[in-house]
Amino acid sequence: MKLNEVVLWGRTAKEYESMFSLSEADLNCRILGCGDGPASFNAEMTSLGHSVTSIDPIYQFSTEQIRQRVQETYETVISQVKQNSHSYVWKNFRDANELGQARLAGMKRFLLDYEGGQAEQRYQCQSLPSLELADGQFELCLCSHLLFLYSEQLSLDFHIASVTELLRVAQEIRIFPLLGLDGDKSPYLEPIIKKLASKGFEAQIQSVAYEFQKGGNQMLKISRQQSVI
Ligand SMILES: C[S@@+](CC[C@H](N)C(=O)[O-])C[C@H]1O[C@@H](n2cnc3c(N)ncnc32)[C@H](O)[C@@H]1O
Repeated sequence: MKLNEVVLWGRTAKEYESMFSLSEADLNCRILGCGDGPASFNAEMTSLGHSVTSIDPIYQFSTEQIRQRVQETYETVISQVKQNSHSYVWKNFRDANELGQARLAGMKRFLLDYEGGQAEQRYQCQSLPSLELADGQFELCLCSHLLFLYSEQLSLDFHIASVTELLRVAQEIRIFPLLGLDGDKSPYLEPIIKKLASKGFEAQIQSVAYEFQKGGNQMLKISRQQSVI
C-alpha cells in the first residue's frame, strides 16, 4: 500500500453512533472497527471505557507519516466537497469549512491516541479480505466508508470474501453507506444480500439518522445467527 494514494479521512464517534444507530448495549459489545483509518471512534470509545479494536492497512505507517498525509488529503477533500456541495446534506455541518474543522479535530484525537493504541493492539495493521483474528472474537463489526462505497475499485468477489471473513470474526456486521462514490446505490448490494440469504444469513437494510451523501441514510445489518429453516 502506498500512503500517498490513500484518501485519509476519519469520522468521529458521534458520526459512527449515528451512521450505525448504536445503542448503549451496542457500545458495550466487543467492537471491531474495519477500515477505521484516522477516525477518532476508537480513541473516544476507549476513553469512555468501551472495547474497540480497529484494523486498517494504514496502521503500518508512523504517526508522523499519517499526520502528513491527513494534512495533504485535507485540502483536496475540502475543495472537492465545496465544488460538489449540492451532493451533500448540510444538517449536521453548516458548510465545508465547519465539516473540515470537525474532521480535523477528530483526526488529531486519533493521532494522539495512535501510538498508545498500537501498544495495546487496539490499532492493528490488517487488511480485508483475510484477517488474522480468531473466530467469533468480536460481537459487533462496524465498517464505515469502505465496502460498497468503493464499488468501482473493489470487486464483487472482494466484497463477498470480505463480508464472509467479517462474519467469521464477528457475530454481527453493520456496513455504511450503501452508496458508491458516485452517490448511486452500490451494484453489489442486491447480489450480496442474495448470496448471504443462500447461506442462511439474515441481512437487513435499515434507515439511520445520519445522512451526508444525499440519499446515504441506510446501513446493511448482517447477523451470523443463521435462520432456522
Ligand atoms: C474513507 S476511509 C474511512 C475511514 C473510517 N472508517 C471513517 O469512516 O471515518 C477508508 C479506509 O479503508 C481503509 N482500507 C482500504 N483498503 C482496506 C482493506 N483491504 N481492509 C481494511 N481497510 C482498508 C483505508 O486505509 C481507509 O483508512
